[in-house]
Amino acid sequence: MDKQILQQKVELINEIIYRQLPKEGEHTKLITEAVAYSVRAGGKRVRPMLMMETYLLFKDDGNDPLLHAFMAAIEFIHTYSLVHDDLPAMDNDEFRRGLPTTHAKYGEAFGILAGDALLNSAFELALSAIEKESDAARVLQGVKALSVLAKKAGINGMVGGQCLDVYADKNEDFKTKEDELYFIYYNKTSALLQASMMAGAILAGASDEDVKKVETIAGDVGIAFQIRDDILDVTSTTEVLGKPVGSDEKNEKVTYLSFAGLEKASEDVARYSETAIEGLSSFPQKNDFLNDLITFMIDREK
Ligand code: IPE
Ligand code: IPE
Ligand code: MG
Ligand code: MG
Ligand code: MG
Repeated sequence: MDKQILQQKVELINEIIYRQLPKEGEHTKLITEAVAYSVRAGGKRVRPMLMMETYLLFKDDGNDPLLHAFMAAIEFIHTYSLVHDDLPAMDNDEFRRGLPTTHAKYGEAFGILAGDALLNSAFELALSAIEKESDAARVLQGVKALSVLAKKAGINGMVGGQCLDVYADKNEDFKTKEDELYFIYYNKTSALLQASMMAGAILAGASDEDVKKVETIAGDVGIAFQIRDDILDVTSTTEVLGKPVGSDEKNEKVTYLSFAGLEKASEDVARYSETAIEGLSSFPQKNDFLNDLITFMIDREK
């Protein structure tokens, strides 16, 4: 992975995302500030990047306003999931992306509201970009991509995964079994990565069959990504991660490391990511950067 190219891509994504942040109104200064704070704090931007790179796998020019709206939408939904994940009622963390969490800075109510606003803004952005399309086939692509985004963000996706994660966490007599942990990871983490890659494919005009393959690939990337997150929660430092290490232990959370040692967990991360890369190689089209990005996500130190 060429770090300079990665940096350039992150900067381009930030430019795309920041210009789509909600505009401040006369009586909405604080909430637009809290929303901008949450998004601008940083983050690796892997979801919009996966979306763009999957789009580029199927179509060669990423200069597409519909794609750009969806890139902001997925990062807004992801950021909302983090803002709510950090709330006292959930993981109760006060540090994220190298800064105080949104609720730590703006208070709990504005943490909740900033998440709400981000989720809603995502749908507003995607829908107004679809509205601007005059070609019926493009409108349909937009609707299909939005339908995937809605599903993968909801009960049959990220929210569903977070619900079992939090339920298991808060109920002492609930002992999470391995298949339940897989359900949690597949939903809380894989689902938004699937939405990213599937929306990229759909907006680039990929066939239903190819979108299905992309869903499987992103599912494996997500599992590997979450296991790596669990490992870093134990092995990294707060300075490097930009979020508190030991959060899972603090919450007595059942994680992948409750079932596997560090070595086995790392082997499984490699196994899931190899399966994903193999899946990508089954497409006649190639995007070397997308392969590198997936490897980077799995090998990451933060
Ligand atoms: C953190 O996601 C939550 C997980 C699903 C593991 P990221 O590791 O992508 O967080 P940011 O966006 O870079 O802050
Ligand atoms: C959260 O998983 C995944 C989300 C959908 C937000 P974690 O609770 O492990 O994420 P971090 O470690 O706080 O980023
Ligand atoms: Mg959590
Ligand atoms: Mg958390
Ligand atoms: Mg974690």
